Amino acid sequence: MGLVDVSRLPQHVAIIMDGNGRWAQARGQPRTAGHARGADAVRDVMRAARRLGIPALTLYAFSEQNWDRPQDEVDALVDLLCEHLVSERDELVDNEIRLSAIGRLHKLPTRARARLRALMADTEQYDGMTLTLALSYGGREEMVDAVRTLADRVANGTLDPKTIDSVTLEDELASMKVGPVDLLIRTGGEQRMSNFLPWGAAYAELHFTDELWPDFGANSLYDAVGCYQKRERRFGLIPDDCEAVDAPLPQSSLESAV
Ligand code: FPP
Repeated sequence: MGLVDVSRLPQHVAIIMDGNGRWAQARGQPRTAGHARGADAVRDVMRAARRLGIPALTLYAFSEQNWDRPQDEVDALVDLLCEHLVSERDELVDNEIRLSAIGRLHKLPTRARARLRALMADTEQYDGMTLTLALSYGGREEMVDAVRTLADRVANGTLDPKTIDSVTLEDELASMKVGPVDLLIRTGGEQRMSNFLPWGAAYAELHFTDELWPDFGANSLYDAVGCYQKRERRFGLIPDDCEAVDAPLPQSSLESAV
């Protein structure tokens, strides 16, 4: 924690929580045991992010592609989500954390949607931190859905296609409600984005770690933020100009900076 400068925190941290299955397999346990430990890590990291003062944390909890996993694993993940949407209520309320969710949420079973809705309603007044769960989420799918919405508006005459710019599209992306991603962390040793927040993370600093998600805790988050603070963020500018950009710019203002 000593290595983190709390006056220069990333405003939005997003995490690809990978490695639950390998964590369990290495211990001779079923993959679902790894997901259960992964859910404990979610609590630790959420607390640590809140304590640091990070305003937005987005977690890739279930991708669009995860529906194609074996049904018993999908069921176990949905059950875990349902349990945690109840058991973590006090944690969120006590820490004034607002819960949000992105993704094709209509694909979740009714009980999961009901619990999600309830906890979002119970926490909507808080502004300590926004915790966004990406559920049934895919970045390309999010963009396709946004484009369909804009196409509908063009078709019904409420949107002039000539006025469409990056702000118009961004306004349709639920993932952009908390702003662009400053720091994107992926655990589990792989170095790829896996369809996570392609728009919002376009200028994110990337932090890859071999640690498996269930082993990732508060100290791992502090390390990642410490590494982020050593980076020079240029947003396509040259070093001298960067001093003027000491807070991350909204994505839409970066259009011509590449
Ligand atoms: C990737 O690990 C992880 C997931 C597909 C699910 C993430 C879910 C959790 C961390 C727990 C539940 C979350 C909440 C919010 C309660 P993997 O299974 O692909 O791991 P592997 O690469 O080792 O197989």
